[in-house]
Amino acid sequence: MTTPVEILDQIEISMSDLNDRIDWTELFGNMNPVEIEIGCGKGRFIINSAMKYPDINYVGIERALRYFRFVKERSAKRNLTNIRVLQDDAGYFIERFVPDHSVTAYHIYFPDPWPKKRHRKRRLFKQDFLGHIERTLISGGTVDIATDYVEYYEEMIALIEASDVLNKMEDIPERVKSLGEIRTNFETKYVAEGRPIYRKGYEKH
Ligand SMILES: C[S@@+](CC[C@H](N)C(=O)[O-])C[C@H]1O[C@@H](n2cnc3c(N)ncnc32)[C@H](O)[C@@H]1O
Repeated sequence: MTTPVEILDQIEISMSDLNDRIDWTELFGNMNPVEIEIGCGKGRFIINSAMKYPDINYVGIERALRYFRFVKERSAKRNLTNIRVLQDDAGYFIERFVPDHSVTAYHIYFPDPWPKKRHRKRRLFKQDFLGHIERTLISGGTVDIATDYVEYYEEMIALIEASDVLNKMEDIPERVKSLGEIRTNFETKYVAEGRPIYRKGYEKH
């Protein structure tokens, strides 16, 4: 039986251990589909997903050390063997280490909106970032986006809808919907405050 300490070691992906594109089968020890959450925060979505879908492998990327540790420890406490967490910049990680046609779904929930005009260039969701999402998704793979910030939402949607690789889905994926109306930590907070949530799903053809 794996102890939480062993799981703690196993859960962390460290970029310093990587020198090329990741072999997911080797990393997880199985050939299950891989889903990535970008900016997983305190991990409500990814941990609930990993518990509900043990046959899906989940990767959470979180830049903030505090949240990264939180997700790592919570995942270990729950003995989750289908979750890995990385503390770094999601854009760089995907560009450098995620293989072509290898990801079944990306989850991008409440990305930092950087509302001040002079900070907008810090936004993660840009053309080259989208290019790597497209490159790394399998055919039929999905991108699910949610935010409370309408101006950033419109910017992301405009970029995606100009893509000739991604098509709008009728609805969000069933496995995401099945987690209920409130899925992430920020969603919980914003729904309680009565803020509108903007969300859309896309599929690679
Ligand atoms: C507004 S929070 C949302 C967290 C979570 N998705 C939720 O809905 O509860 C945005 C998160 O993205 C993380 N983040 C921002 N830029 C990032 C980047 N380039 N790479 C990885 N994580 C990032 C932040 O540290 C923060 O935890």
